[in-house]
Amino acid sequence: MLFLNKSEIQKLDQNIIQTSVKKAYEIASSKDYNMPDRMHLSDGLNSLLLMPCFSGQYFATKLVSVFPEAVKHGQPSVNGVLVLSDNISGKPLAVMDGAAITAQRTGAVGGLAVKLLSPEKVRAAGVLGAGVQGFSQARYLMFNRRIETLYLYDLNPQMVENMIGKLKQEFYGVEYVISRTAEELVEKSRVIIAATTSHSPLFKAKPESLKRKTFISIGSYRPDMQEFPDVVIESADDVFVDTVFAIEESGDIVIPLKKRVAIREKIKEFSILLEKNTYDDNKTIFFKSVGMGLFDLTVSSAIYEIALKKKIGHLIDF
Ligand SMILES: NC(=O)c1ccc[n+]([C@@H]2O[C@H](COP(=O)([O-])OP(=O)(O)OC[C@H]3O[C@@H](n4cnc5c(N)ncnc54)[C@H](O)[C@@H]3O)[C@@H](O)[C@H]2O)c1
Repeated sequence: MLFLNKSEIQKLDQNIIQTSVKKAYEIASSKDYNMPDRMHLSDGLNSLLLMPCFSGQYFATKLVSVFPEAVKHGQPSVNGVLVLSDNISGKPLAVMDGAAITAQRTGAVGGLAVKLLSPEKVRAAGVLGAGVQGFSQARYLMFNRRIETLYLYDLNPQMVENMIGKLKQEFYGVEYVISRTAEELVEKSRVIIAATTSHSPLFKAKPESLKRKTFISIGSYRPDMQEFPDVVIESADDVFVDTVFAIEESGDIVIPLKKRVAIREKIKEFSILLEKNTYDDNKTIFFKSVGMGLFDLTVSSAIYEIALKKKIGHLIDF
């Protein structure tokens, strides 16, 4: 059994991770997988998610907890483990840090959305939220686009300082700007990614100010959580979700649908863009991700195969 820890997973090639996320969307289109609705157990503000998925040679089971207040105890809000198993014998093959897999694959989900749903020449972008996912979103944003100015905003300014420190080690020549408010960040950015634990919209805006921008929502994983105000989905020419579960799970979709400021027919699955990309630079776009076990499966199996080849990780007797 192979054991892969956080730092081994963090060092892996972004291209391999993003290609694996693309593969997950292709499998989703072909329906060649077996994945239940994600099992979600809430305990007050905290949640436990069980995310199993079978496809091809492997099956993966990810068990992750989301404790939004964990930061008060010096812990990241997402923790977990992933077990990758052989789909013929059922034998467990690898145990991986589930939070690191989540950060990598969610970064790549955002990255692929940036690649297919934003102008190639975008130079100014913003990330709301400077936690684990915010950092990963910024890394994959800059992997896909030559960003010159990156605007950052978080309720906790120290988180932004820390994130800039880490980004500077990898992406130099970028101007990092700490926005005073989320409104200011949205105004100055062409692409806006939100990766916060917020329960209510992060900013207010008039429809005219949102035109031709691309909005990517990574947080808001419960029907009572919203990162973007209704006006974003209302103004969007196209709305995409990584999985149809997002339509029931995320307040960014559930709330505007309930208020009838958005219509169900406008919401499409992201995977259709792989067959025909309908994006053009004049469109206003909203993309909502809640994640799915299929991403974890394709990413962890690619990581497993590379790790074996490059002798990364620790082989342990099980
Ligand atoms: N879409 C997916 O597949 C996926 C995967 C993993 C995590 N998530 C979600 O992404 C979100 C972020 O996760 P994380 O691991 O980065 O959490 P984290 O605790 O590491 O970071 C969250 C950050 O958001 C900031 N924040 C909270 N409310 C804010 C507000 N109103 N304005 C500005 N900043 C605010 C916090 O200060 C913190 O720095 C969570 O909701 C998590 O469930 C989504």
